[in-house]
Amino acid sequence: QVKRRLDYQPPAFSIPKISLTFELADQVTTVRSTLSVEKFDDSPLILDGTDLELAAIMVDGTPWQDYSVDEQHLTLRQLPRRCEIAVHTRLYPEKNTALEGLYQSGGSYCTQCEAEGFRRITYFPDRPDVLASYTVRIEADKTRYPNLLSNGNCVERGELEEGRHYVVWHDPFNKPCYLFALVAGQFDVLRGNYTTSSGREVQLEFYVDEGNLHKAEFALQSLQRAMRWDEDVYGLEYDLDVYMVVAVDFFNMGAMENKGLNVFNAKYVLADADSATDTDYFNIESIIAHEYFHNWTGNRVTCRDWFQLSLKEGLTVFRDQQFSADMSSPALCRVQQAKVIREQQFAEDASPMAHPIRPDEVIEMNNFYTVTVYDKGAEVIRMLFKMLGKDGFRKGMDKYFSRHDGQAVTCDDFVQAMADANHRDLTLFKRWYSQSGTPQVSIEQRYDPERKKLYLDISQHTPATMDQASKRPLLIPIEISALDEEGHPVLLDSRKSLVLELEQKQQSYVLSCEQPFALNVLRDFSAPIKLRFSQTAQQRLHIALYSDDGFSRVDAMQGLYQEAMIRCANESSGQWDSNRAQSLIDAQRVLLNSDETDLALLAEMLSLPSFETLMQLEERIDVDALMRARDGLEPLLACANEPLWLRRFESIPQTDYQYEPLQVAARKLKNHCLLQMMNANPQQYAEACKAQYQQANNMTDTLGALKAAQNTSETLFDELMQQFEQRWHHAPTVMDKWFALHAGAKRKDILSRIDLLQDHAVFSWKNPNRVRALVGTFGFYNPHGLYAEDGSGVRWLTEQLIQIDKINPQVSARLVTPLLSLTKLDDKRQLQWRHELMRLADQPTLSVDLSEKVHKALNIQ
Ligand code: ARG
Ligand code: ZN
Repeated sequence: QVKRRLDYQPPAFSIPKISLTFELADQVTTVRSTLSVEKFDDSPLILDGTDLELAAIMVDGTPWQDYSVDEQHLTLRQLPRRCEIAVHTRLYPEKNTALEGLYQSGGSYCTQCEAEGFRRITYFPDRPDVLASYTVRIEADKTRYPNLLSNGNCVERGELEEGRHYVVWHDPFNKPCYLFALVAGQFDVLRGNYTTSSGREVQLEFYVDEGNLHKAEFALQSLQRAMRWDEDVYGLEYDLDVYMVVAVDFFNMGAMENKGLNVFNAKYVLADADSATDTDYFNIESIIAHEYFHNWTGNRVTCRDWFQLSLKEGLTVFRDQQFSADMSSPALCRVQQAKVIREQQFAEDASPMAHPIRPDEVIEMNNFYTVTVYDKGAEVIRMLFKMLGKDGFRKGMDKYFSRHDGQAVTCDDFVQAMADANHRDLTLFKRWYSQSGTPQVSIEQRYDPERKKLYLDISQHTPATMDQASKRPLLIPIEISALDEEGHPVLLDSRKSLVLELEQKQQSYVLSCEQPFALNVLRDFSAPIKLRFSQTAQQRLHIALYSDDGFSRVDAMQGLYQEAMIRCANESSGQWDSNRAQSLIDAQRVLLNSDETDLALLAEMLSLPSFETLMQLEERIDVDALMRARDGLEPLLACANEPLWLRRFESIPQTDYQYEPLQVAARKLKNHCLLQMMNANPQQYAEACKAQYQQANNMTDTLGALKAAQNTSETLFDELMQQFEQRWHHAPTVMDKWFALHAGAKRKDILSRIDLLQDHAVFSWKNPNRVRALVGTFGFYNPHGLYAEDGSGVRWLTEQLIQIDKINPQVSARLVTPLLSLTKLDDKRQLQWRHELMRLADQPTLSVDLSEKVHKALNIQ
């Protein structure tokens, strides 16, 4: 059941061509597949297939007897070296609630094949290194399914008997089967076009539920921007005449980059100001770009095997991050990316699911579409970028495409292209691919005023993870600069900033510089590490005020808050006295009074780190004390500077809504101020909060008001939530925000409230977006609920997981994540967690997905 990276064997055959015919009909779909096979030896041909009903097998036109089938495979023996194999199977898409393979979403058919869903459609070698040319014929009822789509170009269409019709598609590019897609339904189509720099005319088509055309405009424009950007920055052009995007309501993830036919979770396509937040717009632009960028990093050059997933995902996330930075605020983007790493990726590294960005062992591949493979993978690419520079990185990319276009390759091939293009030995750097865990870097500094020398002693240590006991030093780029007392830059070795490349366990550096007041280390979050570097509150505030690196400014303030909260939790079990918080209050006052023009950064500098981020700071956590510390600090800071929050709040006027960086920043600050006003004095500001809710001309401000009321005034919250429900109950995707607000609320009766919500007319266990909004928000973002002393929160979560797992294992396996982080907890909670994990393990029909994680968690000593 365990698959190992080192067991890779190249296939002993090739399948240059496959042609597929789908007969879509009520209940049952018939798939007829014809493979042209070339075998390199006389071993049997083993095809993957799961939950398929086999109807017929023919080889070169005659029925074939020499085969066997089991749950997972079809094995064909005594085949000629070259032959044509026809296999007929039957499927039941209506019954497919796992949303993998061919399934129904609303009234439409669609597919999700990555990673191993194609084997649920037909018998085939379901591995990414088998590249074939696809011809696909789809037949269906014409009135109910006017749109029949697959990859590539439409080459034929026509009428059939009994009101049916057919369409034939041919994809001119060879591809692995995970990039296959089929969609059948009745859609409205938003059309646009794009002319590539070499003059190819591309039709852009967005297929959306009827009545939603106007909501796809932003996604279309995002696609056009992404296409232009990839030409400008990487010289990469689109390669087909049509690019289609289909928005569906039932989808396990964000989106899928099927060749020429992306399938998207509708929430990452559809937007208008009334119903989408600034964050929704940001995500749409970034995911549209991500899937588009896959056309080169993923499709034209694909993965040899699934252990190499980060080859395409880490690289494509890095590319979409670069794009988003160019389209919006680079500093804010970087702050958010670092947050994801520190809050989620560090948690994964500290959990039983710890794995390197290129995993060595996998049971269920769907469990490895992780924040480690994706986001830490992107950080690893970013470190390469930092070390090679923009031009060096581009040279490496050019070499990668010129060497590997049309191939299925490995992460090593990618790094080698980078190394060769830059004449650099990257052997040591490659350890990032094979080593899991979060490196801890400590920096000690000493300044010699006579010699004008700065001495830095830097050491690294990566603690053992549950998958790997011993760790070796990594190549860690640490970007550093310095500030003088006035806040001006101090040159280090005559440069404004340096990238130190730490290679050994311990290294010392001597830099010449004038007396620095504060060192600005790990600028730009130059490596995904935990840094230990002691600084005074004064130095941190100095960096927050004067650094030219946006990330560092926010990071300095986060460090200040974190240190204070951890100390308060450890030393006075979370109780604040007026002394403890004073430096924080003072720092916030300075910031609130400053003439800072970047309002988004200002808002970030004024926000406390999440409880989830705090959880990652230490090996063991006193949950109650830490929660008390964080809960106590928020109102304390809010009250101390109350007039300043109000003044800032009132200084930001409402305008006509536009999604653009300045407005986004202003709304971010305004809504944070409103939250602080409510934290300070809910009676006094309830009217302002309500007024904002009622006058809002966009969803960001609507939600801003709801969040400000969520944990500060139950009556106001309930009143506004009722209004929200009345306005939006017909729009399930918008109602997800409402479910999430309920599920994230801090209140005593939280469990009975969310139990009730499961009977809400809009809620559905079968829709992953609904389930994530309600159950996911509780598990991930309601620490008061989850960590409830009597264990009721974790018990509730477990009960939901048992239900969800029967419907959709990919969803249950995601939502179990909070249950895996037990080692940080106190003994009492560890017992509760373990008890619930055992309850899961005892389920008679646990999915492979969930069972892989549950058993890893239970194996901890
Ligand atoms: N490749 C898709 C993306 O860009 C994700 C597919 C996830 N599939 C899965 N079974 N988990 O990022
Ligand atoms: Zn991707």
